[in-house]
Amino acid sequence: MKKIVVLASGSGSNFQAIIDSIENKRLHAEVAGLIAGKPGIGAIERAKKHRIPVKIIPPDLDPDSLTTFLLETVDHWKPDLIVLAGFLKKIPGEIVDRYPDQIINIHPSLLPKYGGKGFYGIHVHKAVIESGDPESGCTVHYVNEKYDDGSIIEQRSVPVLHGDTPETLAARVLKEEHSLLPEIIKRLLNSET
Ligand code: GAR
Repeated sequence: MKKIVVLASGSGSNFQAIIDSIENKRLHAEVAGLIAGKPGIGAIERAKKHRIPVKIIPPDLDPDSLTTFLLETVDHWKPDLIVLAGFLKKIPGEIVDRYPDQIINIHPSLLPKYGGKGFYGIHVHKAVIESGDPESGCTVHYVNEKYDDGSIIEQRSVPVLHGDTPETLAARVLKEEHSLLPEIIKRLLNSET
């Protein structure tokens, strides 16, 4: 069975979409573990409910200690694929080098638009609405050492509707995220030799 490690910093609805795809047998894989960006987030409760092992990044780790923590945790779980599902910390270069083309991220915009430092979660949708763009969407891409910068695997677009708020747009984009992310995971795991 192919193994996934998920990293999340928030409510974990994308993490849940992965769990659901596995439970519905659309995705043949196992979540070996969740790395939580901080204590108290919703993703941790979801992991516990599904008996998925969790490691929580201790608050206030210096960059070297964070790198060591991530390397030791990920290596222990031996994943075929590492999935950032709403994870807000930058991935250290050592991890990117150790797992080339094995780390993917989902981002709630049509990258390269509205990516990079400061563009995460609701901030992305606020910026899209303020810009007047007629469409937005989500992107799954490979992860490198910069925020939201690695090569794009696939995107889904949604319209920005008259009267949208950041929250209504976020909900429309999130719905696409929940179908796109498991689909890409399935494709990447199946294409591995
Ligand atoms: C998702 O919209 C994801 O695309 C975004 O955070 C949200 C997490 O929601 N990620 C980023 O902004 C990364 N730059 P979730 O915790 O419910 O999955």
